[in-house]
Amino acid sequence: MPDPRADLLQRINAREAIVGVVGLGYVGLPLLRAFHNAGFPTLGFDIDPQKIQALNAGRDYLKHPGPGLARALLDSGRFQATDDFARLAEPDAILVCVPTPLTESREPDLSYVEQTIDRISATLRPGQIVVLESTTYPGTTRDVVLPRLAACGLTLNDQFFLAYSPEREDPGTPGRTAQNLPKLVGGLDEPSGELAIALYAAAVDTVVPVRTPEVAEAAKLLENVYRSVNIALVNEMKVVLDSLGIDAWEVIDAAATKPFGFARFDPGPGMGGHCIPIDPYYLAWRAKQAGADARFIALAGEVNNAMPARVVAKTIDALRARAADPASARVLVLGLAYKKNIDDVRESPSFEIIRLLRDHAAHIDYADPHVPSTHPGRRGDLGMTAVEIAPESLASYDAVVVATDHDAFDWPMIGAHSRLVIDARGRMRTLDNVVAPVVPA
Ligand SMILES: NC(=O)c1ccc[n+]([C@@H]2O[C@H](COP(=O)([O-])OP(=O)(O)OC[C@H]3O[C@@H](n4cnc5c(N)ncnc54)[C@H](O)[C@@H]3O)[C@@H](O)[C@H]2O)c1
Repeated sequence: MPDPRADLLQRINAREAIVGVVGLGYVGLPLLRAFHNAGFPTLGFDIDPQKIQALNAGRDYLKHPGPGLARALLDSGRFQATDDFARLAEPDAILVCVPTPLTESREPDLSYVEQTIDRISATLRPGQIVVLESTTYPGTTRDVVLPRLAACGLTLNDQFFLAYSPEREDPGTPGRTAQNLPKLVGGLDEPSGELAIALYAAAVDTVVPVRTPEVAEAAKLLENVYRSVNIALVNEMKVVLDSLGIDAWEVIDAAATKPFGFARFDPGPGMGGHCIPIDPYYLAWRAKQAGADARFIALAGEVNNAMPARVVAKTIDALRARAADPASARVLVLGLAYKKNIDDVRESPSFEIIRLLRDHAAHIDYADPHVPSTHPGRRGDLGMTAVEIAPESLASYDAVVVATDHDAFDWPMIGAHSRLVIDARGRMRTLDNVVAPVVPA
């Protein structure tokens, strides 16, 4: 009698199990690398033919996993990329890393997950384990994924296996990889938990087993709600302290000397990235379904979403205070990425700042060494190309708005040659030689 559970465990322990990753983006590609580095044969799936072509030609398309990844994968002979989803029958383990955005009405959009799971179900065979990695609300793996997989006629527990394991990515922070960040794993049942733990333990340093997928799903959301709420708190503190004439960053520096009970967060121009502005709404939506009210989540969203307008209002006020007419002003926005030293612009508050500035000022440019031009996004395309910054060009702007504090910017030069800086990141305050009038946003 074949024993799919024992066979799969044996294949995992022997590093013979083929690991398939569906969705080769910011999460999927580094995850695939972790399994590849652990010696597993790997198969990457994506609907984007450009990504497949790039990988199969050994060409990188993402900066943050580091240069040379595509070439190393290809040269190993243990990796292929494909957009042929009939090949989903090949991997023993299928890890799903597709997007989980919001709909127009800010509700969970699980269409990418559903489409992927239906494709997996179409070729599901005994002995496969499926792990959902996409961030989502508690109950998705059990209530959405399981019935769709089981529609193929195979049964959980003895024929196929299912777990949830959220991703923790920290783009732009050197040294943090899919391999060394602790990984939560929750199986639908005992065999699924055992197999998923064995699988991840073979590729990542620390596996943290949790009792159910719901615990893992909710833990991921708690992590991101925690960030959203604390970012909102410091943003609100900034507004409050501004109104009292107290420097918020000096206050935060002072408070951060407390060795316990205080985790530092810094004010900024708003929230960005694929996680913090989106994930909390997944939990709020699920809470509402269950009749609970997630008030902190709603309030944090409200406070953070108001920040771009606040930065723009500060800019307009500061121009007027210098007798400059905003309607004829030239404004430069520094940084389009949502945080420093990365090229990810998803949900970046810089876009909202530029859109709002366009309503008030004559001419807006942006500079970002990591983002050479804008592309079509969820809210259209700004149709802009990054400008180079130099002493003469800086002096030609009536105001410079610091939206992202990339280390690659020449901050002393920016400070020395800008006529007016609206600093939403507190970056300029650390410069001794700032001569431009800086207005903290
Ligand atoms: N980016 C992060 O820092 C981060 C961190 C933790 C968790 N997450 C979560 O991970 C998931 C993926 O996020 P990401 O940042 O990697 O997104 P991404 O947009 O960078 O990558 C998703 C990939 O999936 C592909 N794709 C879309 N639909 C597909 C389909 N039906 N079949 C196959 N491929 C498909 C896209 O072409 C893209 O390459 C999301 O749920 C996100 O919330 C992201």
